[in-house]
Amino acid sequence: MVARVIPVDPFDLVVFGATGDLARRKILPALWQRFAEGQMPPEARIIGAARTEQSAADFRQMVSEAFDEFMGDKAPEPAARADFLERLDYVAVEATGDEGWAELASKLRDGVVRAFYFSVGPSLFGPLAAGLGKYGMVTPETRIVVEKPFGNDLETARALNQTLAAHFTETQIYRIDHYLGKETVQNLMAVRFGNILFEPLWNARFVDHVQITVAETVGVGGRGPYYDKSGAMRDMVQNHLMQLLCLIAMEPPHKFEPDAVRDEKLKVIHALDPVEPQHVVRGQYAGGAATPSYRDEVENPASTTESYIALKVGISSWRWKGTPFYLRTGKRLRSRASEIAVIFRDPPHSIFGEDAPWKANMLVIRLQPDEGMTLKVMIKEPGPGGMRLKDVALDMSFAEALGDDMHIPDAYERLIMDVIRGNQTLFMRGDEVEAAWAWTDPIIAHWQKFADRPFAYDPGSSGPDEALKLIHLDQRSWREIR
Ligand code: BG6
Repeated sequence: MVARVIPVDPFDLVVFGATGDLARRKILPALWQRFAEGQMPPEARIIGAARTEQSAADFRQMVSEAFDEFMGDKAPEPAARADFLERLDYVAVEATGDEGWAELASKLRDGVVRAFYFSVGPSLFGPLAAGLGKYGMVTPETRIVVEKPFGNDLETARALNQTLAAHFTETQIYRIDHYLGKETVQNLMAVRFGNILFEPLWNARFVDHVQITVAETVGVGGRGPYYDKSGAMRDMVQNHLMQLLCLIAMEPPHKFEPDAVRDEKLKVIHALDPVEPQHVVRGQYAGGAATPSYRDEVENPASTTESYIALKVGISSWRWKGTPFYLRTGKRLRSRASEIAVIFRDPPHSIFGEDAPWKANMLVIRLQPDEGMTLKVMIKEPGPGGMRLKDVALDMSFAEALGDDMHIPDAYERLIMDVIRGNQTLFMRGDEVEAAWAWTDPIIAHWQKFADRPFAYDPGSSGPDEALKLIHLDQRSWREIR
């Protein structure tokens, strides 16, 4: 199956932080991919900007090396690669000074879409926004793309929103949560609102509980200084898991349009109950035979930051009151597995007798890897011996259903093209981010107040045992992280 590609309008895209890890690993490979698939018009231009003094030729060389380093066998062939690299330019810009700004301004064209990607630390968001204003680069056609973390709490997020609002309107600000760009995450909306099948059952009357899991095998690696100030709650729950929860829990928007979708997500965040302290379990990975402990990795022997967190979350709405959402995410776990499991209630009465081995219906949406969906249903076990029931899986893998040659675009491919198109549906609105922090802050404040320490867990495990207890106390159990 060949993806349908609609070319976008000509654009100038300036990537601030163009020599950084995210640009080399994700943003530039994503741009290459859209170029290769014919979505980028010939007039499109990408201008790298960073503090490093280097020529455009040096920058192209750096990008070419990044392709080889991060794209493996998908790295572009020489001829097409050269064609792409021709679209790249570079300007050395001092975000907090005056150097480079005038040159950058002189390179921008009138009459094309203008986008500035802030792939830099949050302390530079303000200076970059101010620089763009000062050097007259903000036109009505201008958009900015802001990476996470969007603030560290409600107060800092608010301040950041105000800083950006001094230079840009809300419709010009694209706050990235790359989970929203994942095909499988967008698919949550397709499954819910493109089928009649699930929606009638999608409420507390029929759904017993929901489990949202984002498990990673990697540790914090070289991101220790950032991560140790952040932890799993700020790094993953406040944004990625929150977005997943919203897409599962929200009411159907009246249209698939930016504010219609974001209004509904915001209502979910507002309806989240404050989390009881006993419904939060934090963990920190210990050292293994071949892997350092969290504390060694972040070089902070006294760190009480969590690399794992599990929470039980309630939603006070007509649709969801009484259905808990269990969330968990962590690093150095058994496998890389992100999924959402919707576990339905048992039928009200079993015509097969009380002893029938009942297993709840379950819809599992696998976000990564092995993207797909499984619906667990009960059937009769074939053969004699009475009416013996058995649960089987109706299993669908995207790769099989859509063809092995189907390229599932990386989240950044979709999101960057949406910026150029001017479509904010998959980006977070300012009030949404603030509401997410308003819910998150008291949870963090509580464990800080009581100097709570995370439980140690073994690398390669499924997290601390206490997280098992969190759900066992409700006579439920986590799905295995395989
Ligand atoms: C990032 C977090 O936003 O998402 C990282 O900062 C995390 O800590 C990453 O590893 C996970 O993203 P993905 O796409 O690999 O699931």
